[in-house]
Amino acid sequence: MAIDIRYFKLNTGAQIPSLGLGTYKAQGGVVGDTITTAVKIGYRHFDCATLYGNEKEIGSALKKVFDDGVVKREDLWITSKLWCTDHLPGDVPKALDRTLQDLQLDFLDLYLIHWPVSMKKGSPGNPEDLTQPDIPSTWKAMEALYDSGKARAIGVCNFSSKKLGDLLEIARVPPAVNQVECHLHWQQINLHAFCKSKGIHLTGYGPLGSASKKHILFENPIANMVAQELGKTPAQVALRWGLQMGHSILPKSTNEGRLKENFDIFEWCIPEDLLAKLSEIEQERFVKGANFVHETFGAYRTLEELWDE
Ligand code: A2P
Repeated sequence: MAIDIRYFKLNTGAQIPSLGLGTYKAQGGVVGDTITTAVKIGYRHFDCATLYGNEKEIGSALKKVFDDGVVKREDLWITSKLWCTDHLPGDVPKALDRTLQDLQLDFLDLYLIHWPVSMKKGSPGNPEDLTQPDIPSTWKAMEALYDSGKARAIGVCNFSSKKLGDLLEIARVPPAVNQVECHLHWQQINLHAFCKSKGIHLTGYGPLGSASKKHILFENPIANMVAQELGKTPAQVALRWGLQMGHSILPKSTNEGRLKENFDIFEWCIPEDLLAKLSEIEQERFVKGANFVHETFGAYRTLEELWDE
């Protein structure tokens, strides 16, 4: 019997739709139509970020689906993220206001610190612009946004268990979500267990392995064997696996057929024996974060320091 995993409950009491549409690398000129198509297919969760540079077009598409009465604001879950150049407490509310203006919304369902990394204001991302993050003061500014109601939940991305533990020590409002890379090749078993023990929901980005590495996942013999046994595609198996693990998932596609394929993951399930097979897949982090590591600048000298591994 398939278990209908449509929502997960956050520590705020809110229900986050388990399947969201990723919008990273969804190009201008295409992303607006993609949002409209996805809403019609049934997607109710959209994952955005200032960094992606497409929030204005997403905002126009959202306004249109609301104006046309396709869905109401309260039917959708919209997430966005604070970029590394806006970590100073005075910049945090301004960054959210810009995002709300671009998305043409009064509030976000979830606002996340994009990385445990900070950069000089306005930086295009040069290594010499990396600065020392002060997560406690950035988090205090995030808590004020939560208090104001402009962000109905707050959280983080790309945080290790260690960094989450440090944050929990000083947080008045605990993070509701940690959004991290998570897929069959990087299953995040330990981080998920830690999050669960602290009441923090794990959302997986790049659930198909992301544009540059998806072939690794799609060609994986175990994922293909499971897909064949169930009469599904490897992409559907990868997504359904995430739901059954208890993660919300954010597959990105701008193709209508693949949007439908990725939505068709609710009315069937992966049996225990095949889940066990999937747990044997060799593990590798695809998103290394090497841009945020520098021998002189910023907080992290090595990848091990960034990820606390
Ligand atoms: P496209 O947008 O052309 O569909 P991730 O979600 O892990 O970041 O992966 C996104 C990548 O996977 C994009 O290149 C996307 O391309 C592709 N993709 C999304 N859904 C599918 C699918 N069902 N089958 C094959 N490729 C997919």
